[in-house]
Amino acid sequence: MTVPEKKGYDPFSARLGILISGRGSNLQAIIDAVSAGTLDATIAVVISSRADAQGLQRARDAGIEALSLSPRDYPDRHAYDRALADALCARGVTLVCLAGFMRLVGQPLLDAFPLRILNIHPSLLPAFPGLDAQRQALDHGVRVSGATVHLVTSELDGGPIVLQAAVPVHADDTVETLSARVLAEEHRLYPDAIRLVLEGGWTIVGRRLVRGSVS
Ligand code: GRF
Repeated sequence: MTVPEKKGYDPFSARLGILISGRGSNLQAIIDAVSAGTLDATIAVVISSRADAQGLQRARDAGIEALSLSPRDYPDRHAYDRALADALCARGVTLVCLAGFMRLVGQPLLDAFPLRILNIHPSLLPAFPGLDAQRQALDHGVRVSGATVHLVTSELDGGPIVLQAAVPVHADDTVETLSARVLAEEHRLYPDAIRLVLEGGWTIVGRRLVRGSVS
């Protein structure tokens, strides 16, 4: 399936739904890019899986609708995912961005937004998927790590890669120092990846997202 190129796409039809669970610094980077005019999109809604997520306040401070939907209020994963999909669809969301959303995305949400869900992960995937990516990187003694934005599929952190950024790993790094270095790159990377996906002109070939025409 080729997603047609939309240079000069209509920012009013580029409606982002951002899913969070905590701090929301990537959400803030997206809010800042939209308000600076470097990302032509509207943030239609921010939804958190946790009522105490700091990111909810960031959204409200920016005048964005902020909802808390707790998985505990639903009988099972599918019901929760359907509720998320309904809330996003009701607000005309066209692209879903996971930004520190600490839940596996299930089929109801994948079906509602095919090739329309992005995630950011703090490693150079496919290395170190799952939790504690920075700890995994340090434990393996890698010299380079980084951040990845990818399309979300049913495979955990395994969907087609949109953009990556590398950072050096220093001998005296701790999880905190490495995380901070990676996070600075995440904040630059995520708005760039959203822009690239919204512009279209890409296709999925096997596991890869390929830009331009494929022969
Ligand atoms: C980031 O490191 C992101 O890569 C990972 O979760 C963290 C979220 O941080 N998926 P924040 O909530 O955006 O500050």
